[in-house]
Formats: sequence, structure tokens, C-alpha cells
Amino acid sequence: MLKRRHSDSEVVAITVDGVAVEARAGESVAAAVLVSSSEATRTTPVSESPRAPYCMMGVCFECLMEIDGVANRQACMVQVAPGMRIQRQLGARDLRGAE
Ligand code: FES
Repeated sequence: MLKRRHSDSEVVAITVDGVAVEARAGESVAAAVLVSSSEATRTTPVSESPRAPYCMMGVCFECLMEIDGVANRQACMVQVAPGMRIQRQLGARDLRGAE
């Protein structure tokens, strides 16, 4: 698990897989998730290999997560917001019922 170097920013309450997490204003979803847990942020659709944010600048797409009900968002490119609901993406997505 990573640690924040500066923790004097405003606290932003979010949930990750339904668990309350204290993020900091201005940080990305990926940063908040990395600080809160050492678990993978997603697993691949075919082999279910664990993945985690790597580049933190929108290039590698290893940080895909479901954010406020929208799948496949780059967590490193989205800033946390109060009440944000974040889910890890595990394995292949279920497309049944998708519009
Ligand atoms: S960590 Fe590489 S695109 Fe988000």
C-alpha cells in the first residue's frame, strides 16, 4: 500500500467496492485507490490477470474502473468527487442488458 506525502488537503468521502474511503481533494481516483488498498484495480477479461495503474497519465489503460456506474473509465484521469462510487472491474464485463 502507498502512503500520501501530504495529507493536509480537504478530505473527500468516496466508496471503493462499497467500502468507505477517505480521498483528498484534487487527487485522481487511481491515486485514492492505490493509497487505500494494495489490491488490483481490475483483472483482465480473458486470463483474469490482476492489473493496477501504471503510467498515471492516461496512456496504458491499466487503471480502468467503474466510476459512478460508468465502466471502463481511466481512473488516473478522473478526479475524486464527494460521494463518488468506484468499483473494481473483475474479469469480462457482462454486456447483457447494456443499451
Ligand atoms: S494508469 Fe495508465 S492510463 Fe491510467
